[in-house]
Amino acid sequence: MKGIKIIATGSYLPKDIMSNHDLEKLVDTSDEWIQNRTGIKERRIAKQEETTAMLAYNAAKKAIENSTINKADIDIIIVATFTSNYLTPSIACLLQEQLGLKSTILAFDLNAACSGFVYGLIMANSLLSFNNYRYGLVIGAEVISKIIDYQDRNTCILFGDGAAATIIESQDNSIFQQVHGAIGDDKTLYCEVDNTNKNYLKMNGKQVFKFAGKVVQASIIKLLTDSNLTIEEIDYIICHQANSRIIDYVAKGLKADRNKFYMNIDKYGNTSAASIPLVIDEMNQKGLLHQKDKIILVGFGGGLSYGGILMEW
Ligand code: ACO
Repeated sequence: MKGIKIIATGSYLPKDIMSNHDLEKLVDTSDEWIQNRTGIKERRIAKQEETTAMLAYNAAKKAIENSTINKADIDIIIVATFTSNYLTPSIACLLQEQLGLKSTILAFDLNAACSGFVYGLIMANSLLSFNNYRYGLVIGAEVISKIIDYQDRNTCILFGDGAAATIIESQDNSIFQQVHGAIGDDKTLYCEVDNTNKNYLKMNGKQVFKFAGKVVQASIIKLLTDSNLTIEEIDYIICHQANSRIIDYVAKGLKADRNKFYMNIDKYGNTSAASIPLVIDEMNQKGLLHQKDKIILVGFGGGLSYGGILMEW
């Protein structure tokens, strides 16, 4: 069966760190509450002049530098983001020029909030296999801090900024199972575009938590069933980094080894579409991923949307 393989990764995080103690000065919260309820200790915040496009560029540049491919062979660029600094052009188009990629490339941004990176890989897999393309660049990039109300303790403690990129290669005889879903809902998690007002991200955390617990478990079960594998045969499960308690709940529900669920939410918070590739890049840099390892990726979030992939490293 045709699938894709991640052959190189790169990431870029803003230098400025906002700790839980910094947030204690802004809203009625505490380091203890945030760590117990979410697992987050700190997050990165972009400077005023740092844009989502800049973060995406830096991450993509590193992924290309970390690869051995000729960048002229990249056929598609997908940037998953819900916080682009442009309505148009797409960041993906800008990257074609900034990274010196060929002008016949297929380049577009994709908005599926925290499911964006998984949706991006699903799109990339279809585009590569259908068109006989070889390489693609799939990026998750967000500057969420610019749409956060730092007086709203329900949201401001959760989110951070960052970007990570992957270069993927089309593969014959490789495992690639996918699951996805969308349940239209503009009340649970949303941010309206209105040029006359500064609009902030609003969220009913409890509802998102319930939704996430349910769809992440169901997605993993479906991926395992469709590929005829057991959870013991999976090396790592990389979930969107939204809340460590969601991952505890899923691991317990599936009776799975909690150590298979790699996390870095403590350092970066919820970076939406960037969170899964940030984990992948960190694991890759640490040498934790080995050829033929079986990994599951699961994203969930605004939309409401969710998506999962079972693939080989
Ligand atoms: N500090 C201190 N107390 C707080 C804070 C805070 N930052 N926020 C809420 N509280 C209080 C509440 O007011 C409430 O007090 P009360 O009992 O006196 O009413 C109490 O703490 C419990 O509040 P809950 O909302 O029930 O807290 P919960 O355990 O649900 O945790 C949280 C809240 C962390 C937001 C959790 O619901 C969550 O992580 N939800 C998932 C969010 C998510 O996954 N988002 C991902 C998608 S994002 C995207 O797609 C862009």
